[in-house]
Amino acid sequence: MSVSFYQFLMSALAVYGLASHGQLYAGSGVFYEEAPIHYSDTDPQDPLAKLIERIEAGEVRLNQWSEKGFLKSLLRELDVPVESQVLVFSKTSLQNHRILPSRPRALYFSDDYYVGWVQGGDIEVISIDPQLGPVFYLLKVPRRPNENPMLIRSAECMNCHGGTRTGGVPGMLIRSVRPDTGGFPILSAGTHSTDHTSPLRERWGGWYVTGENGGERHMGNLLYKEGDRGSATMIRDHGTVEDLDQVFHTGPYLTNKSDIVALMVMEHQITVHNALTKARFNTLRWLHYDTALSDHLDSTKGELRKRTLKYIQKEAATLLAVMLFKDEFQLESWGIEGSEAFQNAFLAKAPRSEDERSLKDFELLSRLFRHRFSYMIYSRSFDYLPKLFKVVFYSKLSEVLAGKNPEFDYLGAKERQRILTILLETKPEFAQHFDKHRNS
Ligand code: HEC
Repeated sequence: MSVSFYQFLMSALAVYGLASHGQLYAGSGVFYEEAPIHYSDTDPQDPLAKLIERIEAGEVRLNQWSEKGFLKSLLRELDVPVESQVLVFSKTSLQNHRILPSRPRALYFSDDYYVGWVQGGDIEVISIDPQLGPVFYLLKVPRRPNENPMLIRSAECMNCHGGTRTGGVPGMLIRSVRPDTGGFPILSAGTHSTDHTSPLRERWGGWYVTGENGGERHMGNLLYKEGDRGSATMIRDHGTVEDLDQVFHTGPYLTNKSDIVALMVMEHQITVHNALTKARFNTLRWLHYDTALSDHLDSTKGELRKRTLKYIQKEAATLLAVMLFKDEFQLESWGIEGSEAFQNAFLAKAPRSEDERSLKDFELLSRLFRHRFSYMIYSRSFDYLPKLFKVVFYSKLSEVLAGKNPEFDYLGAKERQRILTILLETKPEFAQHFDKHRNS
């Protein structure tokens, strides 16, 4: 038996629960760097890489007269709305020396991109690739009009975006910390990784928040001082604000907001995005091991192992729960109120049913969205899921929408019916699956 086959067999056995994890990861790093994903060794084919090629070929020109102009024209090319801007002032990421409460880092997002920008720095972009899921780039901003922007795929990003904080796959993250006046997080006072299940009182430490919420106060717009034995005392509260003009010099930014609804949408979207990447990578990995084991052991050729199918079903159930907003935080009192600008931009191209309903419609009183099934079903990440996975996922979703899964009883019959109608009229692939299995 060759060494490489031995290693392979140990990996496959570990996936099947027959060998310990220690053996699986011994000397091999993270699983997505191995077959069949080969994350870092595979050239991405995402649209950002293609855009840069077109810029180099002189087919597209971005505004290179100012940093702000460059950022704006990049967002326009990527179709990322300026109104999605959220601002984070804690030194919790890259280019920390440029981030301060008076010079926050701006983030922008669409269903398929996340863009980070700090004054005077490089632009960080996460772009969704058909094979690789999220790909991490540094885009060197040209400092002269005749210079081309340079795109670098950076391995450094994976230190924070490719491990336990992102569910073991390359992914996005949101942290809530207690920042001091220099933006340094007082880590000894505790931090939170937040998503759509987190109570608002744990969210947005180190972020600016414009707009209002009923109920308990969130952690945004606050500064702290380190106290005794690692505690943190709040020393500055910017309070509830509609814009940030009184808080710092907003001139260099594309808007003066860091909208509360945009923050909540981004948190939901990141949770789904990471679950989608995990579903794709794990399914590919299990199918790969399944085929390879059959080839080598020559036992069940051509047939999927029961255990492989079971893994895929479990992964589909996990994704389904996230996309159906299971355990979503219940908004308190009168809910949340943000700027119309973000909501209009977010809703602009939303697919709608014949009666004008969309999965992107907001509720904002007791919860984020009116119809609790994620609009991320229209995203590139969802489209790129393996076919077999989607068949399993759609079957489980159909069951829930037919009221046959008590785990999701929090969706009343009317809401389930609305979700079903929207999906049948806006997601042809689901409609085909549904029609095929309607009578089976
Ligand atoms: C030291 C850890 C760290 C490194 C290294 C890092 N990031 Fe991040 N990144 C974060 C954290 C934490 C956030 C959440 C916002 C914040 O706290 O600033 C974030 C947020 C982002 C976002 C917004 C979407 C999201 O995940 O919330 C983008 C885009 C991003 N990073 C891109 C990059 C790219 C590209 C690189 C590499 C060139 C990189 N990051 C390297 C920690 C890091």
